[in-house]
Amino acid sequence: MSSQPIITATCSAPVNIAVIKYWGKRDTKLILPTNDSLSVTLDQDHLRSVTTARADISFQKGDRLWLNGVEEEIGTEGRLRTCIEECRKVRKGMEAKDGSLAKISGLPLHICSENNFPTAAGLASSASGFAALVATLAALYGLKPTLNSSDLSKFARQGSGSACRSLFGGFVAWQSGTEASGDDSLAIEVAPREHWPTLQALICVVSDAKKGTPSTAGMQRTVATSPLLQHRIKDVVPARMEAMRKAIKDHDFDSFADLTMADSNNFHACALDTAPPIFYMNDVSRAIVQLVEEFNRASVAEGKGKRIAYTYDAGPNAVLYAEEKEMKTILAVIRHYFPNTDFDDTFNLLGAGANASHRGAQEAVPLPTNEVPKGFNENVIPVQEPGAVRRLIHTRVGDGPRVLHTWGDGKGTAGDVKES
Ligand code: DP6
Repeated sequence: MSSQPIITATCSAPVNIAVIKYWGKRDTKLILPTNDSLSVTLDQDHLRSVTTARADISFQKGDRLWLNGVEEEIGTEGRLRTCIEECRKVRKGMEAKDGSLAKISGLPLHICSENNFPTAAGLASSASGFAALVATLAALYGLKPTLNSSDLSKFARQGSGSACRSLFGGFVAWQSGTEASGDDSLAIEVAPREHWPTLQALICVVSDAKKGTPSTAGMQRTVATSPLLQHRIKDVVPARMEAMRKAIKDHDFDSFADLTMADSNNFHACALDTAPPIFYMNDVSRAIVQLVEEFNRASVAEGKGKRIAYTYDAGPNAVLYAEEKEMKTILAVIRHYFPNTDFDDTFNLLGAGANASHRGAQEAVPLPTNEVPKGFNENVIPVQEPGAVRRLIHTRVGDGPRVLHTWGDGKGTAGDVKES
């Protein structure tokens, strides 16, 4: 037995989906973006990464990390190493200042991280993964209150840019900053989840056999070749960030939808403006766009404003944002045009119980003609091939990282257990 304290911490962190997209770096090492971005944090009751870290003198092979049960090389440099060393450095400084703190910064770490959603679901896990890593090391090393969530977001940012926004719940801005050091490139809370708790998301996982261009490589090709991106950086995003903050502040879904869809389309236009062009959306993605646009057109004609917002990241999946009260209708519309879709009914919209599993509907789902806006053109798109949308995930705006468990108080008296 070593005389050193054994310290472990477990945290979970959420996924976030941007409504004003980050696309392009001005510094690829520090991961400093070319424009501000803004996202909605999704509920980690449904989608999350969970990370446990343990510092122990007996870990003779040094720092090691397992991702979904498979060991990943941490290496001596690169994104994982940077995140770990940034946290370690702060702890080391704290230990140097306060002699009563246990010297744990020098101990090797074992880290394991798991996502509760399969990678095959087609959802990027790097944002929640790096946020969970930084939140866990912060809990392990007792970095709070020395550092706040914005400080920690700068560490997560160096793992994956979008990860910095997963350090907060609710509505989150990543301010690009101007300093070369990256010290002012961090995430801040625009509004907590409680500000607009009825905002929900329906993720449409679209089947796609081919592997797309990874975002890290794709965005730098856009920076190097797209004139449209320069316009986006200078003119489009600054005005849109302001308008989006206002839409969120006012719970103005119509404007929120307008801005979200326009920004998704502008980002994908920049991808297309890249040489050679990058295509992330496919025919099924575009069919969802046409359907939502027609639904909104008819709703606006009725005087009810836009009721659905679509947004697409670096892949074909759609994320639909809508108010809670609209989701039953939207779900039925999507299941009508995209038959045979797997759906775990988180909020019991279909009445078979919360979280009931609906595996690829056996029978056609009728269009809820009484619920769609008057004048909605049913022939806007044909009913698609079964399984074109593989899976639907229904979730809502959520909170920031959670400390699930810590063991040992960091002062050398192992055995203090705290759970939440
Ligand atoms: C399209 O954060 O995955 O999802 O910083 O290179 O790791 P790296 O890129 P990443 O890019 C995400 C791009 C996006 C838009 C967004 O989330 O803002």
